Amino acid sequence: MLIAHVTDPHLGLDTTVLPGHPGPATALRRALAHVRQIDPMPDVLLLTGDLTEAGKARDYEALKCMLQEELPAPSAGGPLVLAVPGNHDSPSVARQILSELMPVAADAPEGRTCLHMKHGLMHFIGLDTVVPGQSYGLLDDMQLDWLEAQLKACMAQPTVIFMHHPPIVSGIEAMDSCGLLRDRARLGRLVAAHGDVQLIAAGHLHRPLVGSLGGAPVMVAPSSSHQIDLNLLPGAPLACRLEPPVVGLYRHTPGEGIACHFSYVDQFSGPFPI
Ligand SMILES: [Fe+2]
Repeated sequence: MLIAHVTDPHLGLDTTVLPGHPGPATALRRALAHVRQIDPMPDVLLLTGDLTEAGKARDYEALKCMLQEELPAPSAGGPLVLAVPGNHDSPSVARQILSELMPVAADAPEGRTCLHMKHGLMHFIGLDTVVPGQSYGLLDDMQLDWLEAQLKACMAQPTVIFMHHPPIVSGIEAMDSCGLLRDRARLGRLVAAHGDVQLIAAGHLHRPLVGSLGGAPVMVAPSSSHQIDLNLLPGAPLACRLEPPVVGLYRHTPGEGIACHFSYVDQFSGPFPI
């Protein structure tokens, strides 16, 4: 099982204040083209929110078209694409236009983009951390109750949880203040009790970051568009930096477990046989 992870494309973002930025649509197209040339083709592509900058229908339509243009359909050997919304999204508009990417569970809490899908041997559970009108994220008891039921139903079977706000603290104060403000402790207990959560994949931070929760690795993929400056000083202002975009690439086999790679979208010289 090979899982690609692209996040925070922010389609519709005005990048004129970011000199040298190709624009979010071009940047996403490059990331998807990169996924397409990975051999073997990933089985699953996770999109962990901030799909658009402002939740506009036309940007979700553009995403849908771009996925169709850049990736083979699952029936033609392409990856299954699953998505959850982020704080810049309009979850209801996203669910309407991207219903195939967001197959909301029949028993999901009202209005929440909660998904649970089995693909191969892996369970994929998507959570919705969006608080309307806020940049920070929450899960809340109803969603965690739903998650608990899902995890009990697939107890000790390999599982990936994906969500927008990472359930770890980065040390980048300006981002942590708009991170997952609570619910981390109970999420960690549920993950630990399950026993086979292989990975928690998230976005929001616009940086590559690795942590752990409840015994599972937490992998935060960078944005396909623009990164947040790495500044761990207290009170540091939020700033962007055009570091190279990266796709998360996570390999899992039942016997060997999980290995998490980051694959650069840009071209570099090589490979040179050694
Ligand atoms: Fe974002």
